[in-house]
Amino acid sequence: MSPQPPPPPDWRLLGFSLLVGSFCFALESAAQGNSATDALNVLLIIVDDLRPSLGCYGDKLVRSPNIDQLASHSILFQNAFAQQAVCAPSRVSFLTGRRPDTTRLYDFNSYWRVHSGNFSTIPQYFKENGYVTMSVGKVFHPGISSNHSDDSPYSWSFPPYHPSSEKYENTKEFQKLYPLENITLAPDPQVPDGLPPVAYNPWMDIREREDVQALNISVPYGPIPVDFQRKIRQSYFASVSYLDTQVGHLLSALDDLHLTSNTIIAFTSDHGWALGEHGEWAKYSNFDITTRVPLMFYVPGKTAPLPGAGEKLFPYQDPFDPTSESMDPGGHVTDLVELVSLFPTLAGLAGLQVPPWCPIPSFHVELCREGQNLQRHLQLHDLEEDPHFLGNPRESIAYSQYPRPADSPQWNSDKPSLKDIKIMGYSIRTIDYRYTVWVGFNPAEFLANFSDIHAGELYFVDSDPLQDHNIYNDSQHRDLPHSLKP
Ligand SMILES: *[C@@H]1O[C@H](CO)[C@@H](O)[C@H](O)[C@H]1NC(C)=O
Ligand SMILES: *[C@@H]1O[C@H](CO)[C@@H](O)[C@H](O)[C@H]1NC(C)=O
Ligand SMILES: *[C@@H]1O[C@H](CO)[C@@H](O)[C@H](O)[C@H]1NC(C)=O
Ligand SMILES: *[C@@H]1O[C@H](CO)[C@@H](O)[C@H](O)[C@H]1NC(C)=O
Repeated sequence: MSPQPPPPPDWRLLGFSLLVGSFCFALESAAQGNSATDALNVLLIIVDDLRPSLGCYGDKLVRSPNIDQLASHSILFQNAFAQQAVCAPSRVSFLTGRRPDTTRLYDFNSYWRVHSGNFSTIPQYFKENGYVTMSVGKVFHPGISSNHSDDSPYSWSFPPYHPSSEKYENTKEFQKLYPLENITLAPDPQVPDGLPPVAYNPWMDIREREDVQALNISVPYGPIPVDFQRKIRQSYFASVSYLDTQVGHLLSALDDLHLTSNTIIAFTSDHGWALGEHGEWAKYSNFDITTRVPLMFYVPGKTAPLPGAGEKLFPYQDPFDPTSESMDPGGHVTDLVELVSLFPTLAGLAGLQVPPWCPIPSFHVELCREGQNLQRHLQLHDLEEDPHFLGNPRESIAYSQYPRPADSPQWNSDKPSLKDIKIMGYSIRTIDYRYTVWVGFNPAEFLANFSDIHAGELYFVDSDPLQDHNIYNDSQHRDLPHSLKP
């Protein structure tokens, strides 16, 4: 239980700490809304740095029975993408429902309310509509980008709670789930031949670790020794299983409090994570491996039947129990979707007015949205007969972007400060391909120059799903979509 001031009697608070995760709660006041019985609570679970290495996303190695169980009662988005593969820019983007070119946050060093516009956030919007909103752990990125206060008081009804997590840092128990000898390397551990140097992230923060320094790895392309690669992958998968147990405890508590019949649960991450794919580590790029995120929504009575009296939807699953079976997702959507759509989608699911589309530019507009309302994907019809129902994936596009200080990898290529940004990589992902152009960028004017192309990348999903064979320079593809800028 969280140490906040005792809430009014009708409201119940929960708090959990995670090694790799964060929660935000929004519990509706019984006194407000259309009617107390219709009002839905919202639980938004935002995991830090989580790529979809989960059983419910088809991962055969990772043990994530609790998240898989959530997925079995949810609609799961197979192709969801972050707008920039680094924490603060991604979080500020989806929490305000604006793209990085509107928040103007590409680094960690500004607060949107003073730097770009006084944009409303998801929790602020719920709070202003009668919800009690609470933050546990990392929801906003800490520091300047949330004014050193997790955007309080605007976003939250109570001061955000940050449980300490240091004591879990060296917990080794979960590594036992992943014996080193069973850990494979990334399927494509080499830096691809045709990769433009500007596209490569030199994973400088990993190099700063003492144990990695001792390996004397050459900068920027030198490979990490394979035994060490296995250890990194083992630790990542162990963290995912630990996280899974925390999600399990949280959701079973929701069951115990009889809240699963009136709580929307959204589960996602701020961006993906490379574990040796293309010879890269961490985030900081435009590849699928760093932009693709898990995304699922549980909506009571819609994505799953309402639980019967006393029935538990989310009994705790032990990842160490070898008999715990992997569960299929309740339904999945293959359309390309973006995290910037979380704001209108949660508003719509909770029955609040969906904010209007943003005009261009929209710096002066406090409440509008740049993402889609994904509710149309959650209109559950005949899921049992057709669990793989489709929208029209050929019409959907996900945009991402990443800044660089130079054409070749530098010490600050992973996280350039705004003033050092010289190049912006704009990327579109369709169901068929990923297409990226790296263009000149003026950080003082926030202007991209699309006639100043530094490099390009093109990968077709069918023939090259891992994005290792850049065919941009094959002349026939040079004239693909020019209208990259959102
Ligand atoms: C920004 O929005 C907040 C929340 O609506 C409001 O309290 C504040 O006055 C606004 N600030 C400015 C400068 O408009
Ligand atoms: C940011 O925090 C400071 C210190 O608490 C406060 O004085 C300032 O008004 C905040 N900025 C905004 C835009 O609310
Ligand atoms: C490791 O791999 C072996 C051989 O494939 C398999 O029998 C064993 O169950 C695996 N161990 C775990 C913990 O997955
Ligand atoms: C580190 O590697 C370089 C060549 O890559 C080599 O010259 C140097 O001696 C190595 N240093 C140590 C301490 O092994």
